[in-house]
Amino acid sequence: GDLFGAQRRNSVGLNLSDPEVLQQLQQELAAMWGQTWQAAPLIAGQQIRGEPHPVYSPHDQHSLVGEVVFSSANDIEQALQQATRAFDDWRLCPVASRAGYLLKAADLLEQQRLELVALCIREGGRTVRDALAEVREAVDLCRYYAACAVEQFAQPLHLPGPTGEDNQLFHFGRGVFVCISPWNFPIALFIGQIAAALVAGNTAIAKPALQTSLTAMACLRLLHSAGIPEQVLQFLPGDGAEIGRHLLSDERVAGVAFTGSSATAHLINRQLAERDSAIASLIAETGGQNVMIADSSAHQEQLVADAIQSAFNSAGQRCSALRVLFLPEAIADSVIARLIGAMRLLRVGSPLDIATDVGPIIDQRALAALHQHIEKLEHDAKLLYQLPLTDDLTNGCFFPPTLAEIPALSFLDHEVFGPILHIVRYPANELAKVVEAINASGYGLTLGIHSRINANMRYIQEHAQVGNIYINRNMIGAVVGVQPFGGMGLSGTGPKAGGPHYLQRFANEQTLTTNL
Ligand code: SER
Repeated sequence: GDLFGAQRRNSVGLNLSDPEVLQQLQQELAAMWGQTWQAAPLIAGQQIRGEPHPVYSPHDQHSLVGEVVFSSANDIEQALQQATRAFDDWRLCPVASRAGYLLKAADLLEQQRLELVALCIREGGRTVRDALAEVREAVDLCRYYAACAVEQFAQPLHLPGPTGEDNQLFHFGRGVFVCISPWNFPIALFIGQIAAALVAGNTAIAKPALQTSLTAMACLRLLHSAGIPEQVLQFLPGDGAEIGRHLLSDERVAGVAFTGSSATAHLINRQLAERDSAIASLIAETGGQNVMIADSSAHQEQLVADAIQSAFNSAGQRCSALRVLFLPEAIADSVIARLIGAMRLLRVGSPLDIATDVGPIIDQRALAALHQHIEKLEHDAKLLYQLPLTDDLTNGCFFPPTLAEIPALSFLDHEVFGPILHIVRYPANELAKVVEAINASGYGLTLGIHSRINANMRYIQEHAQVGNIYINRNMIGAVVGVQPFGGMGLSGTGPKAGGPHYLQRFANEQTLTTNL
């Protein structure tokens, strides 16, 4: 197939600007606001019983979404045994069959999106639009990885050799892959990791973020109903540190796909490195200290609209989100005034409401970390604006969109994962120092540029060590196959998700030389 050209189409999703579509969606979702769900370890298709832990909505901590049973040491061992045993058959299962399951899963995702969207809103606190976009992304990832696998793995690559010798390069799965996914994209990233691992010929053990176990369980059931054999995909919800300790020290684990914090990626890397067995493949996609640089040629209205979108969409809980906007002195005051004006229009509220722009923070712990950061800003920097929250939000984990001015990028010593936008002023002739500061942060995920000066754009692009650069637009919402996503340095190992090289890291290569 033509993977990168006209033939491959991304999912179109729902047209919410059509009032009928919107109204029907709202009615169907409303019917699910009272429903509850369950998650539990699923080992070879068997749902494990155990003590249930309640799950509440981040937007209303009295609203029960369901219950989750944590995985025990025995469940982890069973999952490893099953996944190991299933590997031999799965690695020899024709690539086209494995890809066929993903195509089927993509169709089911489109048909059954409602339950996943409802769960993602209630359990993950995502807005309706974000939740819908996530299903689209999951669909795209399934179809894209299916096409990549067929194109890259179904036939061996024929290589040159002297007359009388035939040389071929084959791809096989590596073994048992552990997929550790985050709560901020509980559908797309959960499914994307699993889809890649499985289609490349690995068996998978999925460990979802605890905060979004129910959404993950619904996705998992969908994948099994698409025909993915129960032995090939195991599910271990529960406490990450506990499960990680058992799972990652085990020599049967051949690889790990992880999306989450840089600190956790380091921990995983250390746990894997302590084993004496084969060196595991680690694909980590972690945090960022993402910057947008405006120069004095920036179109201010466009800059403000894109900065607002990049910083506050998903309540800033995207690894791609804008954290620090660099403004040249000459335009700083005017842009700050416009930013505050635009922030006043943001609607913070329940994600059940279609009009909400900024939903809740995922949990109390994350909220406390943001409050702590505000204390530091009040003490050592300058708070410029906080949008007042309405009184009806006291039951939820809400945090006001905030604008602050800090003296330098290095003022931020960790990723602040929420709706806080920082401003740094810079002298117009010191663009090179801005780029130096970005590189010195060690992170390298997304970068925005607002400029009409080619030399500035080129300079930044050539010197900034970041994975995804966006010029004169927002810097979030990378599209599968269009903006392959992922960073470098503290931001991740590569290869980029939704890109043409992603599956390679999930596979072993084997050459076969035959003397004819
Ligand atoms: N892929 C997402 C984005 O680009 C990750 O945060 O926004």
